[in-house]
Amino acid sequence: MKRLAILLSGRGSNFEAIAANIARGSIDASIAVVLSNRRDARGLQIARERGLNAVALPSKGMDREAYDRGLIAELRKYSVDLVCLAGYMRLLSASFIREFPNRILNIHPSLLPAFPGLDAQHQALAYGVKVTGCTVHFVDEYLDAGPILLQAAVPVLDQDTEETLSARILAEEHRIYSEAIRIVLSGQYRIEGRRVILG
Ligand code: GAR
Repeated sequence: MKRLAILLSGRGSNFEAIAANIARGSIDASIAVVLSNRRDARGLQIARERGLNAVALPSKGMDREAYDRGLIAELRKYSVDLVCLAGYMRLLSASFIREFPNRILNIHPSLLPAFPGLDAQHQALAYGVKVTGCTVHFVDEYLDAGPILLQAAVPVLDQDTEETLSARILAEEHRIYSEAIRIVLSGQYRIEGRRVILG
C-alpha cells in the first residue's frame, strides 16, 4: 500500500478530508506521518487523536536549507511515496524537491496562476473576479507553481465575504485533493512540460 506524508501548518481540514477518504476506502493508501512546522497546529492534534504518527518540527528561526535537511531525514524514516502539502505555509528548498521528484502535491485556494501566496480568497475578492476556485498542483521550488493536476471553479457571489467564499472553496478543495491523490497513486497521468495529461 502506498504511504502518504501530510505536511501542514494549521487547521488541517484538507488532511481530515484525505483521512476520511482513506477510512472509507476511496483512497488506497495509508498516512505514514503527519508533520508540522508548528507545534500548535490543530491538524497535528487531530493526527494524534487518530493514532497517526504526528511529528512537530518547529521551523521558527531556521534557514530553509537546514530546516529541509531535517525534514528530509524525518520523512526518510517513514519511506513515503507521496508528500501532500495541506496548508503547509513554507516554501520548500530545491534539495527537498529533488528528494521527491514529481512526488509532492499542494493545494491552493485560487485558480492558479491567479492569486498565489497568502490570503488568496481575500486577493480574489479585492480584485473583483467573478470566478475563483482551487488548484492541486505538483510542487516545484517556486511559490504555488508547478504543473497543474486538477482545478475546480467557484463563483464569487455579490454578497460574499472572505469567510463565505473560503467555505465554498474549501468544500471543493476537500473533493479535488483526494481525487488528485488517487490519480497520482494510480500512475494514470503523464507530465508534458507544464501540462499534466490524465488517463
Ligand atoms: C487551505 O485553504 C489551503 O488551500 C491553503 O491553506 C488552507 C489550509 O486549510 N493553502 C495555501 O494557501 C497554500 N498556498 P486546512 O489547514 O484546513 O487544510
